[in-house]
Amino acid sequence: MIINVNSVNKVGFIDIEIDPKLDLIEEIQKLKHEKNAIILAHYYQTPDIQDIADFVGDSLALSQKIVDIESDIIVFAGVRFMAETAKILSPEKKVLLPDTNAGCSLADSCKYEDFIKFLKNYPNYTVVTYVNTTAEIKSLSDICCTSSNAIKIVNSISKDKGIVFAPDKNLGSYIKSVTGRENMVIWDGACHVHEEFSLEAILEIKKINPDAKLIAHPECKKPILLIADFIGSTAELLRFSTNDNSNKYIVATESGIIHQMKKENPDKIFISPPPKATNCGCSECFFMKMITLKKIYLTLKYELPEILLDSDLMSRARKPIQRMIEISK
Ligand code: 13P
Ligand code: SF4
Repeated sequence: MIINVNSVNKVGFIDIEIDPKLDLIEEIQKLKHEKNAIILAHYYQTPDIQDIADFVGDSLALSQKIVDIESDIIVFAGVRFMAETAKILSPEKKVLLPDTNAGCSLADSCKYEDFIKFLKNYPNYTVVTYVNTTAEIKSLSDICCTSSNAIKIVNSISKDKGIVFAPDKNLGSYIKSVTGRENMVIWDGACHVHEEFSLEAILEIKKINPDAKLIAHPECKKPILLIADFIGSTAELLRFSTNDNSNKYIVATESGIIHQMKKENPDKIFISPPPKATNCGCSECFFMKMITLKKIYLTLKYELPEILLDSDLMSRARKPIQRMIEISK
């Protein structure tokens, strides 16, 4: 079948019917082998995708992994800014994102023109941006960070230097309080998933499960962080749940990570608190969940949609990411 590149680019994914009897996992493994491709997945992907991926990790681990990849094709099971980071770090490789609609509310909360205007107020500040940003925002940054290394990155900047931290205000305030950096200004952005956890619902779950520990991602709001037993990035929450001796956890981050928590700790109980806006009993990032096994299969088969970025933009955006990787070693 001939697939029209323009129509794929317009819709954001390959929208065709496939034989329902097709064994997608088998087909994906075959195509990966034939095409020397690798599948990278974030912990917020669905369990079936995490299980077929060659590497599963948080934002930091994924960006560190990209540099060592020898395959010709990278299929990114994650969101757009992650696939862009892969392309920026490995421009010679073909980077495929199975659905380019997989954006990020946090990255969307920091628009290029607005950020340029904001930076004009802080001419000599060091600009630290979370990797959850577009390539354009990275190109305006001195150094990137993720939730795993933000404290280390901020501490690597001379104490007398002002810092602009963007785009996550919750992570920014948390880092500011841990590092005691008064000269840090924070952009007013947030992730819809972590912002939506309800303190009331968490307190209710705690009442019913007094033996459960609350573990929270620093993108959550302050009232939740204040009552958390442990705060950490997705990978740190996973590590904590494995090394800690309790057996029940309320997990205040995207519920996809619970798949790995259960795999590592089959006898422990993990509770996903409901967000305020819905009552589904779980907290999912709908951007992350746009990626499906079918889309991964079609992406590998037709090698579309591909992430393509301007080479000047990539070289400007590469510097802050490489600085981050260097400091995180
Ligand atoms: P980490 O992968 O750094 O935990 O970030 C969480 C996140 O929201 C990724 O989109
Ligand atoms: Fe963006 Fe939040 Fe989804 Fe992560 S969980 S991709 S920060 S919207």
